This record gives sequence, C-alpha cells and structure tokens, in this order.
Amino acid sequence: MGRFVIEGGRRLKGEVNINGSKNAALAIIPATLLASGPCVLSNLPNISDVDLSFEILRKMGATVNRQGKHVAIIDATSINSTEVPFNLAMKMRASYYYLGALLSKFNEANVAMPGGCNFGVRPINLHLNGFKSLGAEYRVDRGIIRLKAKHLQGTKIYFDVVSVGATINILLASVMAQGVTIIENAAKEPHIVDLANFLNSIGACIVGAGTNVIKIKGVSKLKSSNYTIIPDPIEAGSYMAMAAITKGDVVIKDITIKHLESIINKMESIGVHITRYDNSLRVCCADALKKADVTSQAYPGFPTDMQPQITALLTSAKGTSIVTEGIWNNRFQYVGELCRMGAVITVDGKVAVVEGGKRLTAAPVVACDLRAGAALVIAALGAKGITEIENTSYIERGYEDIVGKLTGLGAYIRKV
Ligand code: EPZ
Repeated sequence: MGRFVIEGGRRLKGEVNINGSKNAALAIIPATLLASGPCVLSNLPNISDVDLSFEILRKMGATVNRQGKHVAIIDATSINSTEVPFNLAMKMRASYYYLGALLSKFNEANVAMPGGCNFGVRPINLHLNGFKSLGAEYRVDRGIIRLKAKHLQGTKIYFDVVSVGATINILLASVMAQGVTIIENAAKEPHIVDLANFLNSIGACIVGAGTNVIKIKGVSKLKSSNYTIIPDPIEAGSYMAMAAITKGDVVIKDITIKHLESIINKMESIGVHITRYDNSLRVCCADALKKADVTSQAYPGFPTDMQPQITALLTSAKGTSIVTEGIWNNRFQYVGELCRMGAVITVDGKVAVVEGGKRLTAAPVVACDLRAGAALVIAALGAKGITEIENTSYIERGYEDIVGKLTGLGAYIRKV
C-alpha cells in the first residue's frame, strides 16, 4: 500500500484527459464472455480493477491481449471453467458480474461472495432472486455462490430497490434466455446504457436501457464486435472538484457532458464557473465558494460516488452545508480523516453537516476506499502544508495515472 505526498495551495492550470468509465468497463469485460469470437474494447481505463478483471478471464481460459494501455482484444471462446478463482473474486466486488455472464453462457456459475469497498451493508439479494426468477437455483457453499440452471426462461423481474449491480447482472443473465425478460425499476446509470449498447453490438436485443423499464428478448447466439467504452463521469467530477478547491483554471477533456449534468449543476450552484464545449469543460474558480445542500441518489441525481469528493470541496465553502447520502448506510467513514485536517463536519447516520470556510491544514491521513481516497486528494490539494495519504492502492483502482495527471496540472504530488 503506497503513500501520496501532496503539497497544497497550488492552483491547478492546464488540460486533463479523462479515461474510460471504470464501472462501464467492469460490466462490459465480463460481457465479452458471451461473444462468439474476439471482441476489441477501446477507451478502457488503465487501472488495477480492469487488470484484475482480465486476470479473472485469463484464469478461466480466455485470452486477453492488450494493445497499449487503453485497448484490449478479448477472446473468451476458449473459456474452460465456470469458477472465478476465490482469491481474485475476493479483491473486487464487481467480480460478481461473472455470475450473470457465466450463467448466461454455461447455465452455471461459481463466484465468491463479493468483497470490495465496505461502506455499509451491501446485500446481493436482488441479484440472487433475479437469477432464481430466470430459472436458476443457487446455494452458498464455503463462501462461493454456486448457480445452476437447466435452462434460463425470460420473465418479469421487479427490483424493489434501484440497484446498478442487480440490473447489470440480470441484463447479462437474460440476453440468451428463452423468451422476453422485463426488468422493472431498473437502474438508469450511463454504464448500464453502455453495457446494453455493447450487448446489442454483439447481437443482443435490448430496449429501454437508461429508463426504469428494460426489455430483453433472448437470442440464441451472439457475435463479436469492436466497442468503445464511455468516459468516466466520476473521474471527470473528481477533477472538477480538484480544480475548484485550488481556485484553478482547468480544461477537462474527452468527456460526455450529458452524464455530468447533476455534477455541473451542483458545482455552479456553489460558485464554480463552468464553460461547456463539445466534449470538454473549462472549470474556473476565482472567488470564494458558497455553501450548498447535496443529496446523493440514483442517476440522473447527484451520484453517490461523488459524495465524498463534494463534501471535501464544501469544507472550503463558507457557511453550513448539508450532505445527505441517499444510497449507502455508512459512506461517511472518510470524514474522520478530513477532520484530522481541520474540517468541521458532524455526521449523524446518512447526514453530514459541514461548517466550511476555513482552509484545511495538512495532516497524515488514510484512504479507506476508492472515492474516500479521492476526497482526501482534493482536501490535500487545497490544504496548507504537505499532506501524506496512506493506502494509495484504493485510489489507483479507479484513477489512471493520477500522479502524472495532477503533476501536469501543476500540483506537487509524489508517490512514495
Ligand atoms: C455500484 O455498486 C457501483 N459499483 C458503486 O460504485 C456505486 O456506489 C453504486 O453502484 C451506486 O451507484 C460498480 O459499479 C462496480 P447498487 P452496486 O446495487 O451495484 C441496495 C465505485 O466507487 N441493494 O446500485 O453494489 C444497496 O444496499 C463504487 O465505483 C440491495 O438492497 O450498488 C444500496 O443501498 C463504490 N440488494 C442500493 O441497493 C441488492 O441485491 C444501491 O446499490 C443490491 C443492492
């Protein structure tokens, strides 16, 4: 686990290129398993979670050839196992997407119960009940979820909670089921639409992705395709917050503005000046930031994966801001680390009250998960003095070359 050393107080200036969406890549890589030939994926982010998903595919017998940092040719036709190795699955929650992909292809799947970031209880009852509705039986055997089905039969599935992961898993499991599957109360995140677009590009028949009702007509065979992953809205939002807290002037490039509307709206409401171009934004912040209230919710609301980052930014906004976490039960564990830097934040369950306006001061802090780590980087960039952040591997799971990108914007950041 490495350490970042960041000297705060330097205004970020210049341009930064945003990479492909981590959460789209982590859903589409397992989906290549369904193709009948090699798929070429472009605009993949060069991050450790993607490396891990490739390792899982290789362990099951697929071939993965990287063409540079952002393109991979995946041929999963040679897969000879329906078991995701325990030691790999435990490292990343998104490995449970292999449940839906393997079940779809082999009527069988064996994947360890999910690990990954722990900010509150993260059940998978909607995934398992969805598989059951499609005709699969499941049991948990020594920490491994074992799924089996004689055949998969399309059906109507209603999610009583909007779930990104369950929507993705049932999309994967239903594309070759017999008949039609209808997912009601589906998640609408951009990476769900990206997965549906990829699956349709290899011959699936999916309509309604991006709305709360998705209809999947089962097909018997899927071909291969070349596909480009969407840009990462959370990486983009994180760099917007970094520019803002340093009173910088940064052009954020290679983005899809439509996916950022809630983040742009919130940033503008606190006084950040944002200029829109075709696929880039210019983020300037000259004057003092204003307080705001934020509630994280399912797309198109303000994303929960930006909640730690906006909270860190609001420590520099004069006045009292209220941040409400609408998705997770316990996603404020990082607040203690911000308070070590002088932030005045009190947390009561799903609500954090931020008394902002005083500049933070450097302190040794520890990242407890990916987006919490991003929040600490944001705080350190705006703080007085030199901050050391432990557990940089969490941050590197979702931010490609963050040291190189920030250095290019004029920050002082070193990895030791
Ligand atoms: C995905 O997690 C993302 N992970 C998370 O991002 C993100 O925070 C989350 O969606 C919400 O947007 C990936 O895409 C790999 P959910 P997921 O199922 O799918 C409840 C990051 O930083 N629920 O949408 O696990 C659950 O408890 C990560 O990249 C059930 O009750 O989230 C939560 O309250 C962190 N039963 C709500 O639904 C279930 O079976 C939303 O969870 C599943 C979920």
